[in-house]
Amino acid sequence: MSEKDKKINWSDKCWKEMLIYQRKYLWLEDTIAKLSLWLKMKPGMTAIDVGCGLGYLGYTYWPYFGKGGHYLGVDVSLELIREAQRLAKDWAKGGKANFVAGDAYKLPFQDGSADLVMCHILLIHLDKPDLALAEMVRVAKPGGLVVCKEPDNLATLLTLRYPSIPEFGIEEQLLFLKVAVICNRGRIKLGQGDNSLGPKIPRMMKDLDLTTIGIRINDRAYYVEPPYRGPLQQYHLEWAKNKWLNEKNYKTLTDRERKEFEAGGGYEKDFERYKKIKDRIKLKIREQVKNKSYFECGSGDIYIIKGRKPEN
Ligand SMILES: C[S@@+](CC[C@H](N)C(=O)[O-])C[C@H]1O[C@@H](n2cnc3c(N)ncnc32)[C@H](O)[C@@H]1O
Repeated sequence: MSEKDKKINWSDKCWKEMLIYQRKYLWLEDTIAKLSLWLKMKPGMTAIDVGCGLGYLGYTYWPYFGKGGHYLGVDVSLELIREAQRLAKDWAKGGKANFVAGDAYKLPFQDGSADLVMCHILLIHLDKPDLALAEMVRVAKPGGLVVCKEPDNLATLLTLRYPSIPEFGIEEQLLFLKVAVICNRGRIKLGQGDNSLGPKIPRMMKDLDLTTIGIRINDRAYYVEPPYRGPLQQYHLEWAKNKWLNEKNYKTLTDRERKEFEAGGGYEKDFERYKKIKDRIKLKIREQVKNKSYFECGSGDIYIIKGRKPEN
């Protein structure tokens, strides 16, 4: 498999849309306010955001550190940082926001450059997240904070949230869990990252000698029910339609799962059984969306982990 096949291009239309729309509904505003206190954010801070995409952490936390502050977003995608720089004109008031092209494995900053070095949903996509984290520590000032907001998508998959499909048997549920675990093993082997990285980060921080490590988790949950009122409900309904009703997306996702499953050492007959069940779910969800009976309730575990760089 070539490098190109392995990596998501986040400036492609569908992925970029996810960076725009999904981000709107990922964290609750009051949680962000509480986290800014927990992270001891202050106006005037210098913050680096690694794998910044369209500057999500910048515009989200700007009210808490932006006044007189300096936000530096770094990303491998030139296209994304150009667009992020344009968008920043609207939110980066009263301070500076700059975007630079660069690699998380070799950040284009000197040692000890920032009070706060953070990332959001970057490390789970990397082959060597420990090396990227070490770079984040390098560019933090002594006494500065390193903050990672990274999910445990495997845990989310294991919650089997198909409440509108009650006929799911135990064997079928167990097969779904097995496939999810094997696929993640395959992802790691293929160098595509670890879907379950979030809870592994505190230990990685400890190994890098960070101190006062603290962990919290996103408290956002969602509920989608007919008649799907409001933008959040509509967003989740569209998400379900995209995943289950769009045949091309469904096939791309299933092909990707098959590759991961094979790389993870799974048996073909298990995948074929899994695919049959999934196809059944697809038909059921199509019917439910059509007759407006589809509902779903769930959450997604995103860990937020902070660690302090020792003062020399
Ligand atoms: C899931 S997106 C997250 C973007 C942003 N942090 C957000 O939450 O909206 C992952 C981002 O990491 C960037 N990225 C991937 N590998 C990278 C690397 N080695 N160095 C720097 N950025 C990278 C991608 O281009 C993409 O913008």
